[in-house]
Amino acid sequence: MTFVFNSDATRGAVFRRRFAEALPDVDVAIGLDGVDPRAVRWILTWAPPADLARFPNLEALFSIGAGVDQFRRAPPPPHVRLVRMIDPGVERMMQEYAALAVLALHRDLPAYLAQQREGLWRKRAPIQARDRRVSFLGLGRLAQAAMARLQPFGFPLAGWSRTPHDLPGVRCASGADGLAAMLAETDILVCLLPLTDATRGLLNADLFAQLPKGAALAHLGRGAQLDQDALLAALDSGQLSAAMLDVADPEPLPADHPLWRHPGVVLTPHVASVTQAESAVETVIANIRRLRAGLEPIGLVDPQRGY
Ligand code: NDP
Ligand code: OXD
Repeated sequence: MTFVFNSDATRGAVFRRRFAEALPDVDVAIGLDGVDPRAVRWILTWAPPADLARFPNLEALFSIGAGVDQFRRAPPPPHVRLVRMIDPGVERMMQEYAALAVLALHRDLPAYLAQQREGLWRKRAPIQARDRRVSFLGLGRLAQAAMARLQPFGFPLAGWSRTPHDLPGVRCASGADGLAAMLAETDILVCLLPLTDATRGLLNADLFAQLPKGAALAHLGRGAQLDQDALLAALDSGQLSAAMLDVADPEPLPADHPLWRHPGVVLTPHVASVTQAESAVETVIANIRRLRAGLEPIGLVDPQRGY
């Protein structure tokens, strides 16, 4: 019985070592080359391998990422479970990055970086955290983890989700009306939504127009959720003051794309959070045990919802 770690050998070695202790009857293959397709029971991968039908005994595809939109172009057959990555390491890194982005926007870092490039020593009026309203698109594991880190700073926090939520210290909204009301009272908008048909292109001119003038955007979800031309227009008109972007469409962003050089934009190359082998292997082992016990794996993707 084989578990295929279809990603980098460094993290694969961690999986192989831990599987040998926890699931000694399972062989761990690093990559798909040379594996006996009939022995393959589980594959951990970023994107679906070509021709899944060649693995007749495949039970589950584990996404190495928290997001699973990359599987939409070749969804697994109904009997193969798709499981997204639930990893405390991913959550910890996203907490760091979300705090970095919100604090950078709160403390006007993009404007100060632009001033530095011009040799300009000019102070901007500071705004206190209690007066900076931070709202999240998405109230999932990563958004909730990020908000827990931001709460001690004193930002008024809000969040929007598909279904209603009730979270201590967070004004929760759902549905179209809830979104409009939240946007109207948002100074920093953080996107941590999965990419689905419903969220593709959501960050567009219409949404930006619903924010108070001068609001800022931290986009940590998926590039295709953002209309990049609309963002540039909103920045140029002053409707948005700044943006911190960790994702783009396409990735990498072409070298001549105006987002690279816009003074209101800080851009990082999809590094907000990375799956950590040491913690991720524990959730995968726990899920294989659950599957063997006939239980639903943690992080099972609902094909209808798309996340
Ligand atoms: P979860 O599945 O835990 O949460 C998703 C949240 O989005 C839920 O609150 C869900 O609502 C909400 N949502 C989904 N669709 C809609 C919709 N149409 N309208 C309103 N709300 C919606 O995901 P995670 O928090 O684990 O991850 C979120 C995303 O972050 C990933 O899908 C991935 O794209 C991105 N990511 C980015 C990384 C990076 O490095 N930049 C790293 C890791 C992930 P409900 O609660 O009602 O279901
Ligand atoms: C993820 C990502 O989904 O890296 O984990 O974006």
